[in-house]
Amino acid sequence: MITEYKKVVKLLTKREKRRLYFLTIIKIFSGIMDTLGVASIAPFLAVLSKPEILDNNVIILRLKEIFDLNNQSIIFCFAFGSLFIIIINQFVRLLNSWYEKYAIKNIWWSFHCKLFKFYLTRPYSFHIQTNSKNLLEKLQVETSLAVDGTIASIYQILGNIATCVFLFFFLLVIYPIVSIVIFFAAGASYWLIFSRLKKKINEYAEFQPLFAEKTFVLIDRAFQSIKDIIIKNNHTFYLNLLTPLSKKYAKTNINYNAILIAPKAIVETLAYVLLLSVTFYFLSISANFSSLVIILALYAFALQRILPAVQGIYQAISLYKFSLPSLDRIYKDLLSAKEEFEEKNKFIEKKKKFNFSDKIELLNVEFKYPNSKETALRIKHFEIKPGSFIGIAGKTGSGKTTLVDLMLGLLTPNSGKIMIDGNILNDELTKLWQTQLGYAPQFPFMADDTIKNNITLGEDTDHLDIEKIREVAKIAQIDEFIENNLPKKYDTIIGENGIKLSGGQRQRLSIARALFKDPDIIFFDEATNSLDVLTEKSIIESVIKYKKNKTLIMITHRLPTLQNCDEILMINKGTLVDRGSYDFLKKNNQTFFELEKEI
Ligand SMILES: Nc1ncnc2c1ncn2[C@@H]1O[C@H](COP(=O)(O)OP(=O)(O)OP(=O)(O)O)[C@@H](O)[C@H]1O
Ligand SMILES: [Mg+2]
Repeated sequence: MITEYKKVVKLLTKREKRRLYFLTIIKIFSGIMDTLGVASIAPFLAVLSKPEILDNNVIILRLKEIFDLNNQSIIFCFAFGSLFIIIINQFVRLLNSWYEKYAIKNIWWSFHCKLFKFYLTRPYSFHIQTNSKNLLEKLQVETSLAVDGTIASIYQILGNIATCVFLFFFLLVIYPIVSIVIFFAAGASYWLIFSRLKKKINEYAEFQPLFAEKTFVLIDRAFQSIKDIIIKNNHTFYLNLLTPLSKKYAKTNINYNAILIAPKAIVETLAYVLLLSVTFYFLSISANFSSLVIILALYAFALQRILPAVQGIYQAISLYKFSLPSLDRIYKDLLSAKEEFEEKNKFIEKKKKFNFSDKIELLNVEFKYPNSKETALRIKHFEIKPGSFIGIAGKTGSGKTTLVDLMLGLLTPNSGKIMIDGNILNDELTKLWQTQLGYAPQFPFMADDTIKNNITLGEDTDHLDIEKIREVAKIAQIDEFIENNLPKKYDTIIGENGIKLSGGQRQRLSIARALFKDPDIIFFDEATNSLDVLTEKSIIESVIKYKKNKTLIMITHRLPTLQNCDEILMINKGTLVDRGSYDFLKKNNQTFFELEKEI
């Protein structure tokens, strides 16, 4: 546990560590107050059961003399003194649980945001190898489990140990043997139960993240393919996959909960047996009922604190074990995030403006997708000049999207260079370069949000330039539809993945989005392939009119759309096989000729 604690501490900021130190102090103080709370009733009980103390005890006699008190006032003083300490004790307990939540939930918040930022800032190559639902699950399930189950558990163990230790010493002073027996019995029974059940807890713990990982992916897959499921009426396929998993999850939770609560019943019964034994033991050695009442009341009161504390330790250890796999799953990411962000904070990022003025150049570029045997792209050389209109054509799977993703800086070549105005497109330049780009992808993402937020995607929604939104909607020729057909116009919500829009409307929205930031270089990857030929033609014309000095790079299967291109690059099996004007390729390139004929 100490090793894991040290590991976790590595993830924390100075402020979070400070909060945990303060939490430690509160926990120890709370343990002391618990003991004082129990101890405070002793004098009160003593004077109640043995009134003669009021006239024999030296301290009481001295108190009576100093404050001029009679016996009744002394009893009241002890009663209110005890009440006062118990009120403070309860207040410290409240502070303890509030501060624990405060410190722990702040750590969760920081982990949650750091992880989200970490995943958002991973290169595209990371995302093509990672299922986004696994990231979602790590953020939404594992982070909570890791923080509440490990860090919080460690502090619960610490707090409860403090309570037990102080109470143990207090009772030890009063009746050493009885205290040792009670503590030993309670501790040993929990330990015995825990060591017997440890394996089971580990087993349950391992299933928890596995369940979350599998079901997140499965449920998402099912809802994504809901049309197919309805048409094929094959929902039972998904149900059959989910049912055993969720059944096992429910069973795991029932058993885990039983493991958590069962010892409480056993140990509480045991404690009562012990208390009865103590009673009979004292009765057998003395017939003094009044001192017996004090002892019993004191032990009963102490046990009221001790038993939940021991149960708390047990539950926290179990939860700790249960949550460890979740911490393991996110630990590496959190550590990398912390190191990376701390490193970045040292340099204040200067926002330079990048002006594309000379050329995009690809030199001996080779690219292979991770875990793929085939080289997806192998380009010797080509250049794109600013202000030009470049078409990219080729059969399906030939590498057109890959080529564009490389130029966008989403993918990095395995060898060769991509140069922008003579500078290698490295990480630093990529960030600047990407601020100048507009991109309408082959499969545009639609947020379940308003039309205007979908066009501006990721911009500050309070300061949206509505005129600009209208302008780009007009260029993408979606303005009339929005203004005439949608009830709330630009404020209409389009549903998950734009389900309330047609394929062509989504594509036009995506084009408007690509143009919104007034980019210098615009990439269209099959951005108009769902549109009818006339609408497509008209949109391309309006984009060309709008583009003026901008560079436009367009992938399309519909070759006639490329008639106005300055140059068309023909890609085949990942290589640049030909280039030239539309008419030139139509005359000289067999594939181009065949593709054109198909339309
Ligand atoms: N993430 C990936 N991992 C592995 N291989 C990939 C990945 N994405 C694409 N590929 C492969 O790379 C090759 C080129 O794909 P790319 O998407 O660039 O083709 P394309 O020319 O855009 O095709 P289309 O016209 O159908 O969109 C294909 O063989 C494809 O299977
Ligand atoms: Mg493609």
